[in-house]
This record gives sequence, C-alpha cells and structure tokens, in this order.
Amino acid sequence: MAERTVRVLLYLSVFAAIGSGIATILIAGAELPLFGSGTLALPDFETAPGFSIHSTAAGILLLLSIGHGGAALWHQLIAKQRVLARIGIGRPRR
Ligand code: HEM
Repeated sequence: MAERTVRVLLYLSVFAAIGSGIATILIAGAELPLFGSGTLALPDFETAPGFSIHSTAAGILLLLSIGHGGAALWHQLIAKQRVLARIGIGRPRR
C-alpha cells in the first residue's frame, strides 16, 4: 500500500510541478521575456502566486524520489528481492 501511495503521489507531484511552473510563468508575465526578442528582463518569480505551489511540489517530489530510491535499494539489498532486474539491472529471480 505504501508503494502504491508513493507512486500516485510521485505522479501527482510531477504534474503539480509542471502545471504550477507553467502557471508561474503566465502569472508573472514571463512569456515575452522568455519567448520574445530576448531584450526584456525576467520578472521576479518569487512574488508570483503559483511559485510557492511550484516550490512545494518540487520539494515533495524530491523527498518522494529519495524515498522511492531508498525503498528500491532496501528491497534489492536487504530483502534480496532483485527488484532492480525490472529496470534491466541484474538478473531476475528464477
Ligand atoms: C517536474 C518538473 C519540475 C520540477 C521538479 C521543477 C523544479 C523547480 C525548482 C526546484 C525550482 C526552484 C524553486 C525555488 O527556488 O524555491 C524551480 C523554479 C522555477 N520553475 Fe520549475 N520545475 C519543474 C517544471 C517546471 C516547468 C514545466 C516550468 C515552466 C514551463 C517551470 C518553471 C519554473 C520557473 C519560472 C521557476 C523560477 C525560476 C527563477 O526563480 O529564476 N518549472 N523549478
């Protein structure tokens, strides 16, 4: 159940990071400096409302990624379940 919860949260935080990143650019009015002639200065992103969501989503994603990698290593090295074979590392159990 923990594995499924983390997997769902991983996907949610990736989409939240992408969506709030795009929203931050639009709310801050950065599309012209980014995609225009290149002569306009970028706005201060930290004052845009979407930025705190983006920053939080990125932090959650980082923590979940560490937990996800740690859990995979625990199953591989401690529980000897050869889960890394599913991504092509080592041979699967017979
Ligand atoms: C999985 C996807 C993404 C992750 C993990 C991610 C992560 C981050 C992180 C860690 C920061 C710095 C946050 C802080 O300073 O507190 C940041 C800043 C930012 N991100 Fe993302 N990001 C993602 C996708 C996107 C996308 C798709 C866009 C827009 C198309 C975007 C736009 C921005 C902007 C505008 C900033 C502010 C840059 C600045 O302050 O100079 N991000 N992102």
